[in-house]
Amino acid sequence: MCGIVGYVGKKSAQDVLINGLRRLEYRGYDSAGIATLDDDNEAHLARSVGKIAELSKVLAKDPQTGHLGIGHTRWATHGGVTEANAHPHHVGRIYLVHNGIIENYKELKEKLSNYEFASDTDTEVLAALIDSNYNDGTSLKDAVAKALKRVRGTYGIAVFSPNEPGTVIVARLGSPLIIGLGKGETLIASDASALLGYTREAIYLNDGELAVCTKDGAEVFSLSLRHLDSKPETIEGDVEQIQKGGYKHFLLKEIMEQASALHNTLSGRIDTETGKMHLGGPNLTAKELQKIHHIVIVGCGTAYYAGLLASYYMEQLVPDLTTEVVIASEYRYRSFHLPKDSVALIVSQSGETADTLACLREIKKRGTKVLGIVNVVGSTIARECDGGTYVHAGPEISVASTKAFTAQVVAMLMFGGMLAEYHGGDPKLIAEYTQELSILPREIEKVLNDHHDAIKKIAKKYAKYDDALYLGRDTAYPIALEGALKLKEISYIHAEGYASGELKHGPIALIDDHFFEVFTILDNWLFDKSCGGLHEVRARGGKTIILTNSERDIEADDIVRIKSPVKLLAPILLNTLQQLLAYYIAVERGNDVDQPRNLAKSVTVE
Ligand code: AGP
Repeated sequence: MCGIVGYVGKKSAQDVLINGLRRLEYRGYDSAGIATLDDDNEAHLARSVGKIAELSKVLAKDPQTGHLGIGHTRWATHGGVTEANAHPHHVGRIYLVHNGIIENYKELKEKLSNYEFASDTDTEVLAALIDSNYNDGTSLKDAVAKALKRVRGTYGIAVFSPNEPGTVIVARLGSPLIIGLGKGETLIASDASALLGYTREAIYLNDGELAVCTKDGAEVFSLSLRHLDSKPETIEGDVEQIQKGGYKHFLLKEIMEQASALHNTLSGRIDTETGKMHLGGPNLTAKELQKIHHIVIVGCGTAYYAGLLASYYMEQLVPDLTTEVVIASEYRYRSFHLPKDSVALIVSQSGETADTLACLREIKKRGTKVLGIVNVVGSTIARECDGGTYVHAGPEISVASTKAFTAQVVAMLMFGGMLAEYHGGDPKLIAEYTQELSILPREIEKVLNDHHDAIKKIAKKYAKYDDALYLGRDTAYPIALEGALKLKEISYIHAEGYASGELKHGPIALIDDHFFEVFTILDNWLFDKSCGGLHEVRARGGKTIILTNSERDIEADDIVRIKSPVKLLAPILLNTLQQLLAYYIAVERGNDVDQPRNLAKSVTVE
């Protein structure tokens, strides 16, 4: 979604801002802009609809020379995709960029009747509100704090005024804001990836905080302007991780680097000699672990599907455990009750998803312990959880989530494995899972390499279809849901995921020769039943693609068979092929695979 960058220092603000905005491109956006202040204290504004390349063209004609500025990538919420609606907004003496939503902007706008508004945005109203509070004798900091007290909604903002050169004010409520502390320069970003290569030291602003940034650093205040102590933290990652590394798309890179990502997820957490798994992050005592009999897993989209797959594994491992997997956007408004022996797993790649964060807070209010299964270090969800586990998949840039899914499933599985130790879980089964986990990275790499060309060929064949159905049973069911989501996100083919057993309860009515079906069939006790659905589809003219780890006879239009000692975790292996299939179909259709239309990487508004 929207991205913020800011700079004050000695370098060309335009260069730093554009570089930062490019790093945030992956989040999804439809327009962009920057505003800078030159050495004569004159402000310059440039905005454009479309990609950063368009903004760069505007700036090439009219370069900005200042050393202080703010920039933004906008994903439209209030008002269409137009230059006037793009940020930064300029009202009176104020230049402002904003992520989030000002819910009471209409009410505020009516009260600001002495201002003329050039856009349809809530952000311009906020800029006017700050300007209206910026009276003689008040500082910009005071004006921002005063204005924010009247605002209902969420915000991450960066503001400057030609009246106070050398200063950028930032604030946050429900939308991330990070201040990078360099030598003689201070950077601002809504996402740490924009700071990589500039500095490793950063202040993560908390909700309800405001900071005054100058080239010498930042001072943090509450909205009532009480000075707060702020401890800089270290930013993880490096610039190479956020580059394509020779791949045509980030998505392909992220699919192909799953083995190394998983290696990091597993590192130090499994022991094949003892056959055990251990996670330190949840920080739970043996007594606390023994008490857990119910787990609620919360997430959106792919994170939800990762939770669903993990719940199958956890229930197998822990004999007396009940799991419940919920969609965050629904759960947050339900009158839910959690048993005393519950913990919640909050699953999120970005750690910033608004609905997931809202659930975390609702669950916490009810006194239940919340543990994060998060990828982005220092993200809001990670910070607000009582403990948890970083999945360490590395930066995931492409909007469609791939390596994070794999890492999330594995992290939750390890939590289940650890729990099983305290709940009389079968040591043989725990050891079997541990053993499979230890070879999973190697097996993922092998599967992706061995079947790459076959998947590419299949993708070519099915790229023209308009409809697809993904089917699976047991642990292949969450994989079917995830496969369908991946395909629709990047190829724009209508795709649905179903439990194979549900086929006769409705979806079979759809099947004709315009459909293709992807069956994930596992070589287990449900093999025959899974194939039952397959026959029914073929009998009705549907074209079938089988992804399987079985060597048994299966009739289908296309089959990809993997051979691997990994059995329990075979759905994870087969899912990587689904990711490849979606990728190559999207490429074949000429789509923007890394930034699919209408989508944003992290959904920070409801
Ligand atoms: C996955 O491909 C999607 N882009 C989307 O469903 C995503 O998984 C969801 O928005 C949750 O994001 P999070 O993991 O950052 O919370």
